[in-house]
Amino acid sequence: MSDALLQDSGINLTEDQVTMMFTYIRSKTGMVFAPRLKTWVLKQFEMIYKATKSISPGQFLLDLIGERKPMEAQAFFESLTVHETMFYRDKKYFSFVKDTMLPDLINKNRLKKSLSIWIAAGSSGQEIYSILFTILNNFPELLSWNLNFYSTDISSQIIKKAKDGMYEAHEIQRGLEPADLTKFFIKLNDRNWQIKPEFRSKVTFQTSNLVESFAMLPTFDFISCRNVLIYFDDTTKMDIVKRLGDNLNKGGYLILGQVDYINCKIPPQGVSYKIADGFPYYIKDQA
Ligand SMILES: C[S@@+](CC[C@H](N)C(=O)[O-])C[C@H]1O[C@@H](n2cnc3c(N)ncnc32)[C@H](O)[C@@H]1O
Repeated sequence: MSDALLQDSGINLTEDQVTMMFTYIRSKTGMVFAPRLKTWVLKQFEMIYKATKSISPGQFLLDLIGERKPMEAQAFFESLTVHETMFYRDKKYFSFVKDTMLPDLINKNRLKKSLSIWIAAGSSGQEIYSILFTILNNFPELLSWNLNFYSTDISSQIIKKAKDGMYEAHEIQRGLEPADLTKFFIKLNDRNWQIKPEFRSKVTFQTSNLVESFAMLPTFDFISCRNVLIYFDDTTKMDIVKRLGDNLNKGGYLILGQVDYINCKIPPQGVSYKIADGFPYYIKDQA
């Protein structure tokens, strides 16, 4: 075990302290970083540390772990998250939702006339808004149903952006059809567009951490957890999939990103893993 200072990142921490930092990040966010990203993580830590009045990086790390600096801890985790997303990201996913999943759920829920959807790592909102647009464009009869749309993320900054529903030209140009732009957005100025308030108000956005309990959340007909589990180790990933399965209604769907299924094809009890036209998903057993 080496106590050498980590010169490469310019921050004075021992190897043991760095190990402690990565264990702390994993326990709080589920994220496990590849060795090649170590220097980048340390740079993010250094940036947050330098903005504080802590006496040393080691003491600052202990304060984070001891939960004495919750705002700085939040800022550190924010700096490590990748929020990459876009409207209608992954055509196969949206075709499956429109052509297979929604017709099936509509059939199953016809009597109770309700549908609840949770995007469990929804970033700045493009995924939940694209699902909402898919429903409004293709299943207008659902407007008379009790519809619940939730989108959560660990990052409070990105949740604020999602709630505002305000996007710049380059975000609007990625994935959106011109017809959706006219129907669902207001042009604020040359650079910014905003989702109309009547559509924004249909979605509840809140912070939620995938490694923490979902017991306080209701159950859903459809849960999406896409393009996030890839950052977690297999144990954490399987635990999250199991707990998401617990929050599914019978006959409900759980969909991960294509990359997230790696080492995750054996479903938890009561949930089946299926593939339709090359598209993988989980479904909660009816019995
Ligand atoms: C790459 S984005 C994916 C967004 C969207 N699902 C998509 O596929 O386009 C991953 C999101 O997961 C969030 N995230 C990372 N760790 C998380 C955790 N432990 N709990 C909840 N969200 C997390 C990040 O903040 C980020 O916004």
